[in-house]
Amino acid sequence: MAPIEPIDMTSPPILPYFDFILAMLAQANRSVETSFGRHVHFGFWTDPKTATGSDDDYARAAERLSLELCQAAHIASGDRVLDAGCGFGGTLAFLNERHRDMYLVGLNLESRQLERARQLIQPAAGNALELHQGDACALPFADASFDRVLAVECIFHFPSRARFLGEAFRVLRPGGTLALSDFVPSTLALPIARAATEAPMLARYQYFGRCNIGCTAAGYRRLIRRVGFEPLAERNVTRNILPTYRYLKGLLSHAAAIDGITGPVTHFLEVLRAASALGLLNYYLMAFRKPADGI
Ligand SMILES: C[S@@+](CC[C@H](N)C(=O)[O-])C[C@H]1O[C@@H](n2cnc3c(N)ncnc32)[C@H](O)[C@@H]1O
Repeated sequence: MAPIEPIDMTSPPILPYFDFILAMLAQANRSVETSFGRHVHFGFWTDPKTATGSDDDYARAAERLSLELCQAAHIASGDRVLDAGCGFGGTLAFLNERHRDMYLVGLNLESRQLERARQLIQPAAGNALELHQGDACALPFADASFDRVLAVECIFHFPSRARFLGEAFRVLRPGGTLALSDFVPSTLALPIARAATEAPMLARYQYFGRCNIGCTAAGYRRLIRRVGFEPLAERNVTRNILPTYRYLKGLLSHAAAIDGITGPVTHFLEVLRAASALGLLNYYLMAFRKPADGI
């Protein structure tokens, strides 16, 4: 049988899209502030036909994606929650605004993003907040120290899915849950997805940094079984996130040209949108549970 996780990306990621977002935020760009000032992830529209393309509509849809994942993880007041790859801390801010007596922990590789998260989130209602700089594949936390772990649209950047899942399992208490979102290729598209992950010729499109999009839904099921998780939820929500591509295209067309990459990135987004519409590259929300007797 082919290995489940053949692509292990070892060097730290360079994410030019965060340079762009941070530069736009520094210039007080209102569109970027509204759509990506809090969450840096795709929008989720319960009814995609209602998407308007406006900044506010996008911000609501991005908030909705956080809600869907928090619900998938069964997060409730009083929980100890780790958000791995927390970005600007939007999902932690969302939890802080809705729950009480939470122990909220964000971990991210990049200090600039954590700095913004520190400014965005003022812990309220008995909630405590900690932000750590670090790698999601080597979590600096004790075994069984969390009730919930989230990884919102970031696992494809991590050096290894298998290592992150193993680390999430370790830091969860027995009965604890992990929820994540990821780009998941169909089995038919897997060879292309793996080639796209590795191809140096795609370097000029790597505005989105190093992305491993080479794990199918079946690959995930094998991976989580191997780690010891039980499946809790698996939803292909591709149709719910599709309006994101139109919004991103509009945003880029109004942005100042980014050193020769605005054009290729716009084309790349078209390819991703078409692949998603055809069911070749899907967007999944998934949740897993560490068995109650898991150690
Ligand atoms: C698409 S953004 C999502 C950010 C955030 N989860 C959100 O939903 O707004 C991907 C994030 O993964 C982070 N990241 C990439 N590799 C990482 C790693 N090995 N460990 C921790 N964070 C990482 C990036 O810095 C970035 O913040």
